[in-house]
Amino acid sequence: LVLGVKPQFLKQALEGLVIDKPILSMAAGISLETLAQLTTDSLPIIRIMPNLNAEILKSTTAICRNPFVSDSLFETAQQITDAFGSTFVLDEKDFDAFTALAGSSPAYIALFIEALAKAGVKYGFPKTTALEIVTQTLLATSENLLQSDQSPNDFIDKVSSPGGTTVAGLLDLEKTGFTASTVSAIDATINRSQQLSKRG
Ligand SMILES: NC(=O)c1ccc[n+]([C@@H]2O[C@H](COP(=O)([O-])OP(=O)(O)OC[C@H]3O[C@@H](n4cnc5c(N)ncnc54)[C@H](OP(=O)(O)O)[C@@H]3O)[C@@H](O)[C@H]2O)c1
Repeated sequence: LVLGVKPQFLKQALEGLVIDKPILSMAAGISLETLAQLTTDSLPIIRIMPNLNAEILKSTTAICRNPFVSDSLFETAQQITDAFGSTFVLDEKDFDAFTALAGSSPAYIALFIEALAKAGVKYGFPKTTALEIVTQTLLATSENLLQSDQSPNDFIDKVSSPGGTTVAGLLDLEKTGFTASTVSAIDATINRSQQLSKRG
């Protein structure tokens, strides 16, 4: 049974149902323990955290299970999540951090794309052209990193020629605290996710 209703409606959706089938829940912030309380003790329950890129079958999805889920059932669940992207088997305790790194980060990445595109507009590109340039570059950079064994730092060093343009931009980004501000945004996301989990 796949549970795909908004977390705030989950209780209402399950009310009065007698469930005797394994459950796969995608409800954000609803723990395996809460799901067991809302259904039946000792029911096999799998929890997943997909992201919006499921729309194009490229979700980055976390998955975990309770002790009643057999290996073969868990494998079947992973076949389902693999069908709409990539799957990461995690401990449930890591779901809040995963939610920040994969669930919310598409919004942060989109914000970075928007900022670069605005800079393009500032220097005379039409917005659509600037967006195309930036998104294609982002896609290629991600693919390049995924396909090679170089770290992002190796990649940065390769782009940064001595005395060149890139190092000037990189240093300027850090002047306004790019790395610290990114990590702080992830901290805020995890805090919020933990608050919502407690409430759920
Ligand atoms: N969107 C994301 O990127 C994302 C990421 C991670 C996790 N999730 C989780 O995925 C779930 C779905 O999110 P969504 O964005 O797809 O929401 P959504 O578009 O609002 O879809 C919710 C679905 O639940 C149905 N529904 C609502 N109340 C119901 C009830 N009482 N009984 C039976 N069905 C009911 C709705 O049916 P009607 O259309 O007929 O109203 C709709 O098909 C949520 O639990 C969310 O936390 C979403």
